[in-house]
Amino acid sequence: MRSAGRVVREVLELVRGHVKPGATTLDLERVAAKRIADLGARPAFKGYHGYPCVLCTSINSEVVHGIPSSKRVLKEGDIVSVDCGAVVGGYYGDAAITVPVGEKIDQKTTRLLQVTEASLQSAIAAVKPGATLGDIGAAVQRMVEAEGFSVVRDFVGHGIGSHMHEDPQVPNFGEAGQGMKLRAGMVLAIEPMVNAGKPDVRVLKDGWTAVTDDGSMSAHFEHTVAVTATGAMILTE
Ligand code: MF3
Ligand code: CO
Repeated sequence: MRSAGRVVREVLELVRGHVKPGATTLDLERVAAKRIADLGARPAFKGYHGYPCVLCTSINSEVVHGIPSSKRVLKEGDIVSVDCGAVVGGYYGDAAITVPVGEKIDQKTTRLLQVTEASLQSAIAAVKPGATLGDIGAAVQRMVEAEGFSVVRDFVGHGIGSHMHEDPQVPNFGEAGQGMKLRAGMVLAIEPMVNAGKPDVRVLKDGWTAVTDDGSMSAHFEHTVAVTATGAMILTE
């Protein structure tokens, strides 16, 4: 799974370098598809329940599962979430970053990106044998809500292994001490989705793109994380 995680990381960092005003989300898709193939991996998302691409690219108020398109041109001040999955030797890796487009990102949106990424790190810091799923959710929720932002409820993280989505579900909200106990050897995709406004989301007519109901900005960061004997190992670092 570390091999799959490395592929995902390499692709995300490559794509990050291509995020700039004037680029389309299809440009990002093409760069990613080529690198996944060059690395001898298989894209995890393409064909998954009919999903057409190797990346999900979700701009501004799009929360997750935006479909790359030649019609979506990134502009100064946007943010774009890039989510990528890869399969190596039958094992999956899954990670996401949200990247500012250009240099003129407003203060609140900059804070949204910082807090969402920090909430993922805080969740990972809670991972160890004997900790619970509720500890993960509570760590994210606490940090996000302290800033006046909100945690999306309709999408959650997940177990991952020889399938992209395995049990258990990994909510980004909850109560410390509640839920399934973590054990060494489990692997989880932890993926906070955080809205600047209300938590409600809806799915557009394309059947995929989830957007905030109130039109507020949304950020998404994800790592594939293994539970080890002493804590956590980030496989997509
Ligand atoms: N990281 C996302 C998830 O865990 C990616 C899935 S996109 C899909 O659900 F298109 F493949 F569904
Ligand atoms: Co995922």
